[in-house]
Amino acid sequence: MKRPEIEDVSALSQLLNSDEFKLTENYGRKTQALVFDSRTIKALYEFMVKYKVDYVDYPISSGKESVIFKAQLRGKPIALKIYKMSTLKFQNIRIYIDGDYRFAKDRISRSKFVYVWARKEYSNLLSMREAGIRCPVPIAVHKNLLAMSFIGTKQRAAPQIKDAVFEAEPVYSEVSEMMRNTYKKAGIVHADLSEYNILYFRKKPYFIDMAQSVTVKHPSADTFLMRDVSNITQFFIKKGVECNSKELYNYITED
Ligand SMILES: Nc1ncnc2c1ncn2[C@@H]1O[C@H](COP(=O)(O)OP(=O)(O)OP(=O)(O)O)[C@@H](O)[C@H]1O
Ligand SMILES: [Mg+2]
Repeated sequence: MKRPEIEDVSALSQLLNSDEFKLTENYGRKTQALVFDSRTIKALYEFMVKYKVDYVDYPISSGKESVIFKAQLRGKPIALKIYKMSTLKFQNIRIYIDGDYRFAKDRISRSKFVYVWARKEYSNLLSMREAGIRCPVPIAVHKNLLAMSFIGTKQRAAPQIKDAVFEAEPVYSEVSEMMRNTYKKAGIVHADLSEYNILYFRKKPYFIDMAQSVTVKHPSADTFLMRDVSNITQFFIKKGVECNSKELYNYITED
């Protein structure tokens, strides 16, 4: 999709509210596969105009709760994460928002909690980058859309480490150190870390997917950390690395 030339968003609002657009009952509220609800289409339009996105390219990944597109912003490739308004369930994510002092106050509106979720990922990625930890650079957040730097080559997005070919020992060391820095320097627990949420690019791991990440002060931070530690050690044990959860947990948390 190319950036629309018109700077007037009200024209789009009119279109979305018109009878023509309401093809079926509830059409505007449903998100199926790659088809977005009307709020998302409007947000995407606003986003493209506001940030001067050259075009939105192809989908890199399409999951239950989000779709990631490759896009181009002022000549540079970016990843555009679009959180699905209809499938992201408030009940499933509230634990990561309620206990996080940075966002607990934002929980007010049920219709807008997805926006809080997007802002939360933006803010977590920013804290990670400030602490010097490899992850996408957050560029902008608007409603349920998050733009971040694209990790990959011109040809394709970097693979998840579950699909990458690499030497296990040094990558395990890198991941351990990144987990420690995430905890100690950024003051965050990833809370969904696994071989699915680490990309492998130019021989280095990158953490991604951080909307659910919480500060170390969250009441369940320790439980989340133990789960991350267990996922990571299980994966690297399968890759032949001699490691265990207790050692990794201690390495991350001890002074
Ligand atoms: N910045 C990026 N650069 C390149 N590829 C990316 C980037 N961010 C995400 N991806 C790709 O998109 C996939 C899904 O992204 P992410 O893990 O952030 O979403 P998700 O919340 O897991 O989505 P869902 O749970 O709905 O599948 C990643 O596994 C990765 O392959
Ligand atoms: Mg993911």
